[in-house]
Amino acid sequence: MSTRTSATVRPLTDADRDAAAAVVKEAFGDEGTTVVDLWADVVARGLVRAELVATDGDEVVGHVGLSHAWLDTRSELVDIVVLSPLSVLPAHQKRGVGRLLLAAAVAQAQQLGAPVVVLEGDPGYYGKHGWQPAATYGIEAPSLRIPRPAFQVVALPEHEPWMTGRVVYRDVWWEHDAAGLRDPLLAQVEMSLPD
Ligand SMILES: CC(C)(COP(=O)(O)OP(=O)(O)OC[C@H]1O[C@@H](n2cnc3c(N)ncnc32)[C@H](O)[C@@H]1OP(=O)(O)O)[C@@H](O)C(=O)NCCC(=O)NCCS
Repeated sequence: MSTRTSATVRPLTDADRDAAAAVVKEAFGDEGTTVVDLWADVVARGLVRAELVATDGDEVVGHVGLSHAWLDTRSELVDIVVLSPLSVLPAHQKRGVGRLLLAAAVAQAQQLGAPVVVLEGDPGYYGKHGWQPAATYGIEAPSLRIPRPAFQVVALPEHEPWMTGRVVYRDVWWEHDAAGLRDPLLAQVEMSLPD
């Protein structure tokens, strides 16, 4: 049986960059290189709002990134953050590292003054960690290929009720074709999700 992690979370430093990329690569398996390349471009374009690592002793075992997006409301474009990618080394999974990284990333988003943080992911996992369907707040996903229950949000103290509308990802997500899923995986995931 797995034991609770003793990992702690802190901001990424330049010295962590390669180890963090290795964690992302391993966590995402076949998609690892794709996600590492996407994130490298997000970093290169100055779109990162926060980057955290989980370390266990000297080892980097987890990583999470927050980057910029807009919420296209009726009155203005609102700066928000997207939580992606979230990665934990397979050997350290199911011990609470993901939970620690999620909590720290949300706290960081709050410190940045973002009204909401959004993500694409399994509602079965994120729902247990306080995430809600974005639709609850009148927030729409940037693509129809993101199943509604999979587009989730945490509303922060700066959130106000008028902040409804569609999330607009930065160009880099489209250039990497990294928004949502495509068939046949999309159809598979849709079948496994609640309406
Ligand atoms: C998603 C991911 C980040 C989760 O990381 P994690 O460290 O395993 O997450 P946690 O340990 O916090 O929670 C995972 C599960 O372990 C359970 N768990 C938490 N602490 C535990 C402990 N001490 N002992 C046993 N189980 C525990 C949680 O309840 C949770 O249960 P669930 O599988 O029923 O949801 C990780 O699986 C990963 O890197 N996946 C590949 C990349 C990916 O898909 N990222 C997300 C993209 S949206």
